[in-house]
Amino acid sequence: MTPSIPHHALLVTSSLSGEAGTSSALARDYLDRLATRGPDLRITHRDLAGDPPPHLDAETFAAFGTSPDERSAVQRERVAWSDAAIAELRAADLVVVAAPMYNFGVPSALKAWMDHVARAGITFRYTDRGPQGLLTGRRAVVVSTRGGRYAGTAADSQTPFIETFLGFLGLGPIEFVHAEGLAMGEDHAAAALESAQRDLERLAA
Ligand SMILES: Cc1cc2nc3c(=O)[nH]c(=O)nc-3n(C[C@H](O)[C@H](O)[C@H](O)COP(=O)(O)O)c2cc1C
Repeated sequence: MTPSIPHHALLVTSSLSGEAGTSSALARDYLDRLATRGPDLRITHRDLAGDPPPHLDAETFAAFGTSPDERSAVQRERVAWSDAAIAELRAADLVVVAAPMYNFGVPSALKAWMDHVARAGITFRYTDRGPQGLLTGRRAVVVSTRGGRYAGTAADSQTPFIETFLGFLGLGPIEFVHAEGLAMGEDHAAAALESAQRDLERLAA
């Protein structure tokens, strides 16, 4: 089934190279392709490398667990970043995550974002049948760039992690586009980028 044209995309980038990062550029290419299908597409950009979220600490986690009317001024400040990031997710019907592989995982700023948007009772809840995501009705596309090649092997620490995380919040379907072997010579890199572009074209069609 062809997915419906999204109205509001949230672009989450995390490359240290900002807009020049390969993951950021591929994600932008995807959104540009989508915009040709739905010119009214609205895009909200959350640049996690340029404006990194604070690491989740004990005080912030305690503030998450305190009801809003009982929070101190300091606690209100502590939850503000998280509330803003969750509002961006809620407003979107498509979430595009640009995730380079750094040291065999996701960039630490992307992990910190995850720590701020996973909130019990707000973006997921526990039930007697296990956790239930509360951000349903949103598709996700993850653009993952790597110097080496790992997709489909046990060394791919990113794909199952990101898929599990976004699914835990209720997002779906979740599609991955990998550009791999970007540090394995020009030929490998060119072929990987071409293949990623083809995948993005297919997803945007
Ligand atoms: C700090 C850092 C750590 C990296 N660690 C890995 C790694 O563990 N595995 C890998 O295959 N590539 C690694 N790379 C290469 C990047 O994944 C690759 O250059 C990717 O294209 C970066 O995407 P970006 O341009 O969007 O930042 C690393 C690059 C940097 C800057």
